[in-house]
Amino acid sequence: MLRRTFLVYVLLTSFLVAPFSAANTVSGSNGVVSSRSQIASDVGVEILKQGGNAVDAAVAVGFALAVTYPSAGNIGGGGFMVIRLDDGTVVTQDHREKAPGSAFPDMFLDDAGNVDRRKSLYSAQAAGVPGSVAGLLDALEKYGTMTRQQVIAPAIKLAEEGFPLNEDLAGDFERVMNSMRDYPASMAVFSNNGQAWQVGDIWVQKDLAETLKRISAEGRDGFYKGKTAELLANEMIRLEGMITLEDLANYQPVWRDPIKGSYRGYDIWSMPPPSSGGALVVQMLNMLEAYDVKSMGWGSAEVIHLMVEAQRRAYADRAEHMGDPDFYPVPLAMLTDKEYAKTRFLDFNPEQASRSEDIGAGSWPLESLETTHFSVMDKNGVSVAVTTTLNLGYGNRIVVPGAGFLLNNEMDDFSAKPNEPNAYGLLGDEANKIEPGKRMLSSMTPTIVTRDGQPVLVTGSPGGSTIINTVFQVILNVLDHEMSIEDAVASPRIHHQWQPDMVRIEPGALLEGAEEKLTSMGHRELAPMGYGLGDANSILLRDGVMHGSSDPRSVGGASAF
Ligand code: GLY
Repeated sequence: MLRRTFLVYVLLTSFLVAPFSAANTVSGSNGVVSSRSQIASDVGVEILKQGGNAVDAAVAVGFALAVTYPSAGNIGGGGFMVIRLDDGTVVTQDHREKAPGSAFPDMFLDDAGNVDRRKSLYSAQAAGVPGSVAGLLDALEKYGTMTRQQVIAPAIKLAEEGFPLNEDLAGDFERVMNSMRDYPASMAVFSNNGQAWQVGDIWVQKDLAETLKRISAEGRDGFYKGKTAELLANEMIRLEGMITLEDLANYQPVWRDPIKGSYRGYDIWSMPPPSSGGALVVQMLNMLEAYDVKSMGWGSAEVIHLMVEAQRRAYADRAEHMGDPDFYPVPLAMLTDKEYAKTRFLDFNPEQASRSEDIGAGSWPLESLETTHFSVMDKNGVSVAVTTTLNLGYGNRIVVPGAGFLLNNEMDDFSAKPNEPNAYGLLGDEANKIEPGKRMLSSMTPTIVTRDGQPVLVTGSPGGSTIINTVFQVILNVLDHEMSIEDAVASPRIHHQWQPDMVRIEPGALLEGAEEKLTSMGHRELAPMGYGLGDANSILLRDGVMHGSSDPRSVGGASAF
């Protein structure tokens, strides 16, 4: 029913970047991959067919996305991975970028003490030390079964032989090209000799193929040392960036204890700091557990009010308490504690909206969907949730000359100045200030839900500050509203992040009459937005069958066998 309503909405609006495709939802009993790129999902399923497990497939998809979805898939960025192993153990890996060794707290302030946003987003200094290659290879070594050469081969082939550009990519490249004109190596990749690439052109990335071959042959040294590292460090010197050969050689991913919460008998496994996502999702679920969400009904004013009030409080805690745990004592036990959530929610009034200024202050976020999430599950229940990013789409727009990959602009995720909003309008303070070697706070929330040790749901999303609320709502849709994965992912969403005190609403997210009711409860600003909160490529295991759905908000694809 919901699905039908949503489809009608889709047909009637012009917000859509792409039509629904048959590949959005697939089912299988041997393995499923759901990602932002149909080509990459097919690569993952091919690895499963060859006998690889979900970790092998996830690593292959990670490298493939660096070729087929360059605005967020990457080897020049970083991300997080949550893995459920076949014995039920859940592990998480942090391959988030790090601040270079010469970074310092005020590095993005101008002479007047204001944040120079151009510098923090679109300069060589905006790049953190990339973590993706180290993370993917380390995961493969620990939990994969195939060789590095086997899982990187599809990405090399795609880069070397090219693939036809679809409307999504050709259009995106044309839009981003103008911001790359200062960087000839970027123009060489994202334009066709200075002109826009056209739909159907075969897009070949020779330099990227050579970099991938070095990684395939030498492992992490093929990226963090030798030719690739020298090309990157030389570009940093040329553009007055900060990443050095030493920063690259020293980069290590970190295996961290997962955030573990529970909700109505299900276990929630997600990413700990430096991601804020896992702790916030668990905190919000804890706040909702005492309420009968199902009987309130999806899209009702009661349930939206409840969700918004949980979001308001959790995001306020984020600004105050969250940063890299290797540098700052994040009070994780408190934030994820059920009693703490109860206390935090004591002032919840089911009839009346709270006011965010009673808790703190802030401003409005820019939108960016340009992180990407993919989910993998195999027939043995090994499940992998990976969210990876260059931060904003195409990162700092700088392709490393001769190496063919884009650099991230993740340094903007630090708090460049206390209580000054970043590109997502998120506030931060001491916990997330810039320090050498520190990881910047993230909202990426790769998450796995299990029941009695068995996998149920693999999910996650891009969307900057909105990621956490997208994951929260996919979980509620599956566990409380008992939706199929297709509906759980497709259903319209809402977002509130404490500051600014405003509820953003995708069309169709509220049932009739709910808007008036929410206004009468005191929700001051209900801001309708186009269709585009998140891109939650997810997998649900139900009755022994895996169902994968790529988010219809974009042109990804799921693959199964
Ligand atoms: N760069 C967005 C995030 O990590 O939350």
